[in-house]
Parts: sequence; structure tokens; C-alpha cells
Amino acid sequence: MTHPLPQPLDVVARGPLTGSIAVPGDKSISHRALMFASLAVGTSRITGLLEGEDVLATAAAMRAMGATIERQDDGIWVVDGVGVGGLLQPATALEMGNSGTSTRLLMGLVSSHPITCTFTGDASLSGRPMGRVIEPLSQMGADIAASPGGKLPLMVRGICPAVPITYTLPVASAQVKSAILLAGLNTPGITTVIEPVATRDHSERMLTGFGAQLTVEETDQGRVISITGEAELTPQDIVVPGDPSSSAFWLVAASIVPGSDIVVRNVGLNPTRIGIVTALRMMGADITELDPRTVGGEPVADLRVRHAALTAIEVPADLAPSMIDEYPVLFVAAAFASGTTVARGAHELRVKESDRITTMRIALEACGVACEEFEDGMAITGSGGAAIRGGARVASKLDHRIAMSMVVAGLGSAEPITIDDISPVATSYPVFFRSLDALTGKGE
Ligand code: S3P
Repeated sequence: MTHPLPQPLDVVARGPLTGSIAVPGDKSISHRALMFASLAVGTSRITGLLEGEDVLATAAAMRAMGATIERQDDGIWVVDGVGVGGLLQPATALEMGNSGTSTRLLMGLVSSHPITCTFTGDASLSGRPMGRVIEPLSQMGADIAASPGGKLPLMVRGICPAVPITYTLPVASAQVKSAILLAGLNTPGITTVIEPVATRDHSERMLTGFGAQLTVEETDQGRVISITGEAELTPQDIVVPGDPSSSAFWLVAASIVPGSDIVVRNVGLNPTRIGIVTALRMMGADITELDPRTVGGEPVADLRVRHAALTAIEVPADLAPSMIDEYPVLFVAAAFASGTTVARGAHELRVKESDRITTMRIALEACGVACEEFEDGMAITGSGGAAIRGGARVASKLDHRIAMSMVVAGLGSAEPITIDDISPVATSYPVFFRSLDALTGKGE
């Protein structure tokens, strides 16, 4: 894929964040809503879908495989599914852009359909490991030819019927878990995934909502998730809650910029996603939950966040799966805390949209923050609440969360931080800068 021209941005401190914004739909849930609705027989409606590039890549792929997907003028997405087993041979390669979730989950879906699909992606996605899904999907009978190192571009030749397996996840990954469960949807018999460490459970919740026979058992080996294949999914009206990963930027920004007092509305608080709230509270962040409610089967609340003096912590390694996408912005919080924050046990950060340990270490060091890199994490010595130096040009490395994290760092810098390319932000948070303007009195 050709990437658009880099869009550099100079970020300067803007004073306190005040007022309120709503975060857009959850990326993980949006992908799944489109996929499952495309596999139901009949018409589903999705409200609050994240309209970021990653989710649009999933929509395009499902269309290419036969689903009818339209956005109405009122913002509701209407999906007419093809039924489990009904995916059609796409005419061209499936272009996944920057999206690991689209790629890995769709590889699962395709694996148990009698179709052959080629998956391509941008430079970031083409560097990410796919062996973790190739291995179990091959055991189910799919024939997968990948580029060297188990990377994209790759071709999946699905098989029907596929073979049900019982698979213990060697790495804590909701994408791998979901890929196997989705392959299991069109596989006769029972497909079982055992996850020794719990990861986000949106697939389990939503598949159950669509009428799949899925059981979850807590055992000594971990969570045992079983799906009965040749499922029939019933169309649903889905409301997508706001993305806690997107809210994290505002939780940190308001915590570090003196005088800030904001409300972030519509934040999904699924227990498998809220490690960042736990970690920030351990550091002394002032975060209160308002109006707790249930949206689309997920717990949701508005979060009031006020500036607070943050103190360094040792980030508990067992929080990693529930905040895996939030480490870059947690590192920014640590850069403003008093003392040295140590985060370990997060080796997976090396294989995200960028190597998030090295990328953040280089960016923060360039801005005058003392960091020490470990194979599985980082130690960061904070400013004790004062502005960091800034005054550097940093690289976002095609990684939306690096770009947004360094914008947050810029809000607390003495000198501007130049981010070499903010275009990746559109993959997960297209209205990020509009919300930033709203919270800093620069916009609506
Ligand atoms: C996701 C799972 C996580 C996360 C990614 C979205 C999902 O990846 O980092 O942004 O929607 O299942 P892993 O499963 O690789 O940890």
C-alpha cells in the first residue's frame, strides 16, 4: 500500500484542558460488529461504529467477500450478512492497511471457508508476525503461504470442512484467540481455545449476543472457551461503546497539565481493558466514574479527570494484557511523575504497529526524559510535575498510538515537539485533533 504523504505537526503547550468530549466507538468492538453482522443471515444495524481507517479496511474486506455494508446519513451502519459459510471468493487482494486486528481475525474467518484470499498491508503491518495465527489455522487445515518470517503479503487457502482443534495460546493475544474462534464458527464440532492469561473478551460477548453456542469456563489452566461450529448467527442491533484506549490520551493529558478538569464521556470499562485506569490511579491520578451504565452489553461510564501530582510506580506486569495498547501514553504519564516508573513484562510491545519500547524511548529521550530500555519494558524518570524540555523532532513510525502519545507529551513541554507524521492517527481516532481543540478552547 502506498502511504499518504507524511503530515508533520508542531505541538505546543496549550494550557489546561477543560470541558467535555465523547470518545468514538471502540476499535476492537467495531471490527467484530462488522464481521459478525456480515456472517448473520439478515440485516444488522450498528450505532457508534468507529469510522477509522482500520475499521474501514474490515468493512471493505467483508464487502469484497459478499456482505452488503452501507452507512446511512444518520451515521448508522446497515449490514446484510451472507451467513456463516457464505463468504465469497474476493476478486482482488484484501488490503488491510495498518490493521493487525482486521488481518488476524479475517485470516481466521477465511480459513474455514472454501475461498482463497491474499492479504496485503502497509510497511508497519507487513513487518508484524503472523506466525501466531498461521500455526493454529494450519492445524485446522488452512493452507497458508506467507512471506519470509511469517509476514504479509500472505495467501490463505481456506478449507471446508476445517478440523476443530483445542489450542492453548502460547502468547496472551485476543487476536489469536478470536482468529481461532472465528475459524471455528464454520467448522463442524467444537473448537476450543485455552487462554492461560485473560485477554479482551469482546469476541466471546458479541458472538454470544449473535446467538453462537459459546461457553467460557474458568479452570486451573486458565479460561477455556469453546465454540460449536456450523453456527447460525441472528442479526443484531448493536451499539458500540466508546474506546477506552482512545480515552487514555485524555486521562493522561488532563492528569499532567496543571489546572485541567475534564469529563470524557462514553468510555467502555470492560474489565479486560481498563488496566490504564488502575495504573494511573496507582500513580495518584484523580479519575472518577460518573453515570455508570451498560451499552451494547459492555460496562460504560463518563470519566471526570482532574490534574494531579503523579508518583512513579512499578507497573504490575499482570496489568499488561488489559492495557497493552496504553503503554506509550503511560510512559508519557511516567515522564511527568516524581520518581522512576518501571514497567516490565510487556514484551508484546515489540510487535505492535511499531516497536513501542524503542520508539517511545527514542522519542522521550529526545525530549529530555531519562529512560532505560529493557527487553520487556522501560524505566522512566519523571519531571516531578514540571514541564519536560521538548524541543525535538520525533518519529511516529506509522504508529497511531505513538503519534497521539507524543501529542500529549507536547502539551506538557517547555519547547514544541515536532511529530514527523501524524497521519496514522486516522487509523483509530479520526477526530482526535478536533477533541484536542475542544478541550483546549481552540475549537467548537
Ligand atoms: C486487539 C487485541 C490486541 C490489541 C489490538 C486489538 C483486538 O492485540 O493490541 O490493538 O481487537 O483483539 P493482541 O491480541 O495482539 O494483543
